[in-house]
Amino acid sequence: MYPEWLSIGDVSVLLIMAALYVIFRYGMAMRIDILTLFPGMFQGPLTESILKRAVDQKLLEIHFHDLRESGMGNYHQIDDSPYGGGVGMIMRVDVLVEAIEAVSGKLKVESGKLPHKIYFSPRGKKLKQGMVEKIAKKHDWLILLCGHYEGIDQRVIDGGWIDEEISIGDYVLTGGELPAMVLIDAVARQIPGVLGKEESSKEESFSKALGRRKEYPHYTRPEEFRGLRVPDVLLSGNHGEIEKWRRGQLG
Ligand code: ADE
Repeated sequence: MYPEWLSIGDVSVLLIMAALYVIFRYGMAMRIDILTLFPGMFQGPLTESILKRAVDQKLLEIHFHDLRESGMGNYHQIDDSPYGGGVGMIMRVDVLVEAIEAVSGKLKVESGKLPHKIYFSPRGKKLKQGMVEKIAKKHDWLILLCGHYEGIDQRVIDGGWIDEEISIGDYVLTGGELPAMVLIDAVARQIPGVLGKEESSKEESFSKALGRRKEYPHYTRPEEFRGLRVPDVLLSGNHGEIEKWRRGQLG
């Protein structure tokens, strides 16, 4: 079955190496369940470029759950007016908890895994690269809750159905779908195998390698464009000087 010069021991070693490669390369896959009223909003970002490749290579597994289907009554109502009065509608605790439990319960039984549950709102902790890296490292299953209207009933968070409330910046969006896409993109590029060697993210803005600072500027051909020249040091071939110049350019 295998060449004579290969011993049983050699075959075992090869098999173990292959298994380790597969575990390292594909065992790091991330499952993301998205609870949203607008699953269609995700179609663009997930069907192009690097995220599409990650999904095709099964490094990223995305499942959509339409919150409307957990709604109450004939009209599938998911929201109600706020206690204490005020404008806007609040997403109901019973509807949201049922939706979260339906998703987390199913896979927990199948695999024994626990999801990390994230809700997006302007009240949340501001997303930074360090948080992205931690999420990608510590978790292989995320549930993302995308809110709408004036927000969600606080009891969803206080009752422990959400582990982390995240904001992507100090401005207000129409819902949590765009923040969810931002997080998925940032987390996906941390999964081993999602970025090729060329695109790899070791020395980029906010990376640990650059002390969480902003990257140095980049240049390519031509050497001169409409009077704008590439800095001489980058054409010098002196790697020590280039490195020094780049360190001096960090933001
Ligand atoms: N939902 C609405 N605005 C948001 C923001 N800035 N960050 C996260 N979720 C949001």
